[in-house]
Amino acid sequence: MSAKRDLISIEDFSKEEIEEIFSIADEMDEIIKNKGRSDLCYGKIMATLFFEPSTRTRFSFETAMQRLGGGIISAPDMSVTSTKKGETLPDTIKTVSQYADIIVIRHPRDGAAKVAADCAEIPVINAGDGKHEHPTQTLLDLYTLKKERGSIKGLTVALCGDLKYARSIHSLAYGLARLGADIVCIPAKGHQIPYYVSQKLARKHGTKLRRTFASDFKLLEGRIDAIYMTPSREFSEQLDLPIASADDSSLTQYISEYFTRKMTELVHGFDAFYITRIQRERLVKSDKQIKPKEDYPIVDDAFLKDKKFENTLIMHPLPRVDELSPKIDGDSRAIYFKQVRYGVPVRMALLTYLLGLRKAPKPQGTSGQKIPSRKMLSSREVGYISCNNANCILNDENEFLTPEFKYPHREKNKGFHALIYSCAYCDTEIHARYVGNFGTKKYTKVHPSFEKKISDWRNRDHLVVFVSEGEAENAGFNPYRAGKGRLVLNERQIQAGIVAIAYQIEHTEDLRDVVFIGIEKEGTAIAERLRLLVKARKNMQMPVAKLDVYSYRDDRSFIDEHQETKIPFSVDNKIVVLVDDLIATGRTARAALDAMIDQRIGRPRGVKLFVIIDVANAREFPIHPNSSIKKIQLGKNQIVKLGLKEMDGADEVRILSTRGTS
Ligand code: CP
Repeated sequence: MSAKRDLISIEDFSKEEIEEIFSIADEMDEIIKNKGRSDLCYGKIMATLFFEPSTRTRFSFETAMQRLGGGIISAPDMSVTSTKKGETLPDTIKTVSQYADIIVIRHPRDGAAKVAADCAEIPVINAGDGKHEHPTQTLLDLYTLKKERGSIKGLTVALCGDLKYARSIHSLAYGLARLGADIVCIPAKGHQIPYYVSQKLARKHGTKLRRTFASDFKLLEGRIDAIYMTPSREFSEQLDLPIASADDSSLTQYISEYFTRKMTELVHGFDAFYITRIQRERLVKSDKQIKPKEDYPIVDDAFLKDKKFENTLIMHPLPRVDELSPKIDGDSRAIYFKQVRYGVPVRMALLTYLLGLRKAPKPQGTSGQKIPSRKMLSSREVGYISCNNANCILNDENEFLTPEFKYPHREKNKGFHALIYSCAYCDTEIHARYVGNFGTKKYTKVHPSFEKKISDWRNRDHLVVFVSEGEAENAGFNPYRAGKGRLVLNERQIQAGIVAIAYQIEHTEDLRDVVFIGIEKEGTAIAERLRLLVKARKNMQMPVAKLDVYSYRDDRSFIDEHQETKIPFSVDNKIVVLVDDLIATGRTARAALDAMIDQRIGRPRGVKLFVIIDVANAREFPIHPNSSIKKIQLGKNQIVKLGLKEMDGADEVRILSTRGTS
């Protein structure tokens, strides 16, 4: 007998399996139309465990099972079950598994469906777990789209509204990407798609994303916030346009012809506009109040009159609140009640597929979809990290559950290296910046030069990871290196070098044309020192701005709620003195140039880059500083550590060896 299959995430199903479900759904639709019922599920029992309210999902699953000739066990409300007496979710599932052949569960906690799947020997279907996923909604959404348009591949679908908490959106984004559609994200203010979702989309579907400003797209009346395009399209990019900033008059002058052309193409090419309600039941204190109309789009007859949406299908998972007017229900583009109707044949297809009633479902992982999430990590490796999602099921019933993390991927950026683990229950990412060796009880910061050591330690079950130094110390680990490394620059040399840079700027530029921009955070501190030096020597107040390049890093996809830094002055015809602590690969400097140019604050006459340390043999981009205090070369097992008074208490640069860590 093959192992049971569950549907917890839409990512559990390969493209071929989704297509197979669609083909079975076509047959089921014929059964509904012709005979009304079949005996395919005769003798089978489905348990519906709904810990949250539902109309469509529950009734359509129950209708599906009735039409298939099977039986249903259920409770009108889970508060009339022994849950009310304190029975845990695992115990409830283990009990119901003794009665039923398949379980359909909806729960307010992210990851609850995985708990059910882990406890049950029978197939489990996720009917919505917290803000995490709603894969059966996605199956019917994709099926409806396919019915309407013939194919999903190459369609452009806008996802609009509460992209942060709407689980149907998260599943749909994965499903659309898997089937080759392009996705345009239009979030309500403060409700962007979660970072881990955009990361997963980028990682799994291979798209690097980038951002620009709302003002570039004034022609879209500020509605478009972000575009995520799969590689199936000629232009793969993501544009982040907060609705709230659409009126930012300082940025509205520039409309790039290039983007205008592409955006016009895209907007006229919307195949579907998928809008969701604000998920009020999931809002937390830190979420800002949403004002209808102002912060949240409304699809009504005026909206549909816009030529842009002439051929656009309007979709909604329902229930609706204020964002979708009943006045458009009769419009041929409004297909949300078709979605509702297709819920039955699609769920009939899913039940027969998972119960193996047509043919045995492929074992989990054989379709090349699920392996990473099921790859087990040793409990020692992840023993000191925990899921920080307050709504994760782990934080509700954690006494009974073992935390599980997916195999990590690495994040690499100047001064910021981490192993990124995802919670196997809710997908929340945990960034482990420190690694330890259980044998030697030594720990160190994650660094790319440790890659081999990390896998060696993992193979020997010696690897332990930590989010912070404090956690490593609390666990009884010591820094791997007691020595301080080789001193390259001391405090006096660093200060003298910064004075020399100030002197160089004063003598090569007209100071009236110079502005300082520091790359956060170290570069900003050095830029401020330069400002003070020039003020003391020339009695001139130089403009200084800080620049956060986080969103422009080329190792991240864009969607994130990261605060942008705004340069508060024009750089038009100015000499920009860009300052950072060190240059190694050149990627940060590249990101800084893009971040500055994207702010549309003028065309500088020139940009000059000043750094303390130039790691000359680490360059990956053809960018070189105009001046550095010291140029160094790093060996294979060496890293540079640069400290500044402002953040580290002392100015010094040291080269540390990474040898001797095992
Ligand atoms: N779309 C959806 O999940 O609806 P219900 O909450 O009514 O099940």
